[in-house]
Amino acid sequence: SRTVSRNADGVVTVGGIDVATLAERFGTPAYFLDEDDFRARCRAWREAFGEDADVFYAGKAFLSRAVVRWLHEEGLNLDVCSEGELATALAAGMPAERIALHGNNKTAKEIHRAVEAGVGRIVLDSFQEIVRVAHIAQGLGKRQKVQIRVTVGVEAHTHEFIATAHEDQKFGIPLAGGQAAEAVRRALKLDGLELIGVHSHIGSQIFDTSGFEVAAHRVVGLLKEVRDEHGVELPEIDLGGGLGIAYTPDDDPSEPQEIATALRDIVHRECDAAGLSVPRLSVEPGRAIVGPTAFTLYEVGTVKELPGLRTYVSVDGGMSDNIRTALYDAEYSVALVSRSSTAEPMVSRVVGKHCESGDIVVRDAFLPADLAPGDLIAVPATGAYCRSMASNYNHALRPPVVAVRDGEAREIVRRETEEDLLRLDVG
Ligand code: LLP
Repeated sequence: SRTVSRNADGVVTVGGIDVATLAERFGTPAYFLDEDDFRARCRAWREAFGEDADVFYAGKAFLSRAVVRWLHEEGLNLDVCSEGELATALAAGMPAERIALHGNNKTAKEIHRAVEAGVGRIVLDSFQEIVRVAHIAQGLGKRQKVQIRVTVGVEAHTHEFIATAHEDQKFGIPLAGGQAAEAVRRALKLDGLELIGVHSHIGSQIFDTSGFEVAAHRVVGLLKEVRDEHGVELPEIDLGGGLGIAYTPDDDPSEPQEIATALRDIVHRECDAAGLSVPRLSVEPGRAIVGPTAFTLYEVGTVKELPGLRTYVSVDGGMSDNIRTALYDAEYSVALVSRSSTAEPMVSRVVGKHCESGDIVVRDAFLPADLAPGDLIAVPATGAYCRSMASNYNHALRPPVVAVRDGEAREIVRRETEEDLLRLDVG
C-alpha cells in the first residue's frame, strides 16, 4: 500500500507513523488499513467500468460503517448477503436502492426487511425463492427488482478455469437443462417481481479474464433465448466478483481496467451479433478492493527452533484473525517490520497461539535468524476475508481495524474486550 515505507533505521512506517508507536497505541494483533488506497481502488473500478456500469463492493470481504461511508462517497454500490450486512449498510446510510441482496437461503425475515427497506435488487437463487420473494413483495404492496443467479458451468480459481459440469453446487440455477430459462419464465409471470436481469459469479482469486468471458458469452446466450421466447430484453447483467490479488510477490493479477475492457468487448460483440441492445453491466469485487489495503501486525512471542526442520515463530494472534491459511492453504508473505536485520534468513513457519496444530498464519517463510520475542512482524494483503471471518476461538478478542489516512490512525472497528465476550453468557 502507498502509505507504507521503511525509514532509515529499517523501521516500517504507515502514513509516517512507525509500527512500534502503532503497536503501543492499538495493541497487537491489529489490522492497519490504508484508507486512501481503499478509495483509490474504488475509483479505479468505477473509472474502468464507466457510467454505463455499476460496481457493487462485496461486503463479505470486510464491512464496517466507515467502509460503507467510503463506498457511498466513492460512488460504489454494495452487495450484502445477510441481514447483518444489510443492517450495517442501512445504519451507515447507504441508500437502499444501491444495495443488492444475495444468498442461497435468505430467510423470510431477511427478504421482508430488504423489500421493505427498498433494496435495488434481490438476486434470486432458487425456484422456491422466486415464489417466496414475489409473495413477500406482494404482501408489502411492492414490485421488487430481481436478478436470477444462474450457474453457467464455469468454475474459476486463480490460473485455471473449467468450463464444463460445474453445476454441482449450492448456488444458482443451472443454465443446463433449460432450468434457468424456466426460472425466467416463472419470474416474468409474478406480479411481485420485476425481473431486471441475470447474474453469474464463477469463483474467487481469479487471475485472468477467460473464465469471465465464457460466463459472459453464456449469460448473453440466455438473454437471447429470453428475447426469442418472450419478446423481452432483460436490461442488466451482473458478472459477479472474483478478481484475484497478489498475496505473495509471485502473484500477478489483472487490473480492473483489463477485466472491464474484456467484459465490455465480449458483451458488446455478442449482443451485436444477437441483435440485442447492450444490457447495463455490473460487477461485485470484494477482495480486489479491500484485500491489498491492509496488513496484520503481530508481536513475536516465542521462537522455537527444530533443528533440521524449521523454526516456529509464534505470534499473539493466529487462526482467529486469519483462518484462510488453515481453511484454504492460502499463501501469505511476512516481514520483520520493527527493525532492520542483516542476520541470515531462516526457514520459518509463523503460527498462532491457539490450541490447534493447524493454527498456521504463514506456512513457509524466511525470517532473519536473530528474530526475537518482542519483534513486530507484518503479514500483508489481509484486508479481505480476515477480520470478516475472524472468530473468538479460545475466547480470543477479535482485533481492531485501524484506518490510516493523512498521517493519522483511528480505529474503525475497535478491539473486542472481555466484557464483549462475557456479555453473551447467560447465568
Ligand atoms: N459476488 C458473489 C455472489 C460472491 O459470492 C462473492 C464471493 C463475491 C461477489 C466477491 O468475491 P471476491 O471479489 O471477493 O473474490 N472466503 C473466501 C472467499 C469466498 C468468496 C465467496 N463469495 C476467501 O477467503 O478467499
